[in-house]
Amino acid sequence: MQFIDLQQQYRRYQTEIDASIRRVLEHGQYIMGPEIGELEAALARYVGVNHAIAVASGTDSLEIALRALDIGPGHEVITVPFTWISSAEVIGLVGAKPVFVDIRAEDYNLDPDLLEAAITPRTKAILPVSLFGQMPDYDRINAIAARHGIAVIEDAAQSFGATQRGRRSCSVTSIGSTSFFPAKPLGCFGDGGALFSSDDRLAEKMRAIRSHGGLKRHHHPYLGMNGRLDTLQAAILLAKLPHFPGETEARGRIGARYTSLLADICTVPTVSPGNTHVYAQYTIRVPNRDQLGEALKKQGIPTAVYYPKCVHEQPVFQPLGYRLGSFPVSEAASRQVISLPMHPFLTEPEQDRVIAAVRGALGSTLS
Ligand SMILES: Cc1ncc(COP(=O)(O)O)c(C=O)c1O
Repeated sequence: MQFIDLQQQYRRYQTEIDASIRRVLEHGQYIMGPEIGELEAALARYVGVNHAIAVASGTDSLEIALRALDIGPGHEVITVPFTWISSAEVIGLVGAKPVFVDIRAEDYNLDPDLLEAAITPRTKAILPVSLFGQMPDYDRINAIAARHGIAVIEDAAQSFGATQRGRRSCSVTSIGSTSFFPAKPLGCFGDGGALFSSDDRLAEKMRAIRSHGGLKRHHHPYLGMNGRLDTLQAAILLAKLPHFPGETEARGRIGARYTSLLADICTVPTVSPGNTHVYAQYTIRVPNRDQLGEALKKQGIPTAVYYPKCVHEQPVFQPLGYRLGSFPVSEAASRQVISLPMHPFLTEPEQDRVIAAVRGALGSTLS
């Protein structure tokens, strides 16, 4: 059994993917070829915003967003400590200070009740993460941000395809940022990402920063980077995109089935009111996850831990002065979470095998 079955996905869409790759090989425009514009138009339509900008990774996209907002030394950006390192790394990379706010145990996302207390005159943006595949409460987060005149950047690396009150992830904040890392809900065959905005000026600036800070050849108004998506990756995404709504629906169904068959024996994910969940990870919480992981491994069932350590515990962020106990909800989650196999092609018999193994392990060794 695979944790995420990318080979099967390729086999299913092989004809379209191969044809799309071949088109690029034939026209030879490997950098900023026509597929980039086609993909950006399709992504903007899907998300429901005016602009999508294809970039080299989900990390570059967050950095470009911060640069476009002129965030740098002397500024603070609020994010969560229970996330992949990129969310905080990019804040440091532009010279600003990451300020962490704890999560809610219910959805592993930024706790809006704790947000206002972390805002200072130096706060320039809030960078909430839509962790595991569902969005935090953006109505509340956006209202607080608006009161203080600060921007909100959604780190939607794990939630592409999710919705909140009918609006898609990446469409509800000043800037949305996602990742097309292969294991993400919409993945390419290498690194990739995208930025989303309906603000024409911001979108144009992000487009420029992606390409060495300029839109005209040999004219560089901004400090930029080489943050372009490869044409080949755009071609792969264009071939996969028509299948994505069906995959998203399957993820939701498979996640809900796990939940209904595991809810009585462990802490299962809850879907917040108004949300749909794309289960980039199907993450449960148990008191002894290492034992559970070992028991499943013995039966050939892979698991993964996202994330065994919070970002504020990482050596690189020690100078910020946080310590163990600073973010109790995040720290407790990081010690107990474990993710089960999840992909759109997981069959019911496979899923039953995972469920039986989890139930067996929790009922015997862990009781
Ligand atoms: C929450 C989060 N933010 C940012 C990223 C960065 O994306 P990428 O790996 O494409 O740079 C990831 C990817 O793992 C992520 O999970």
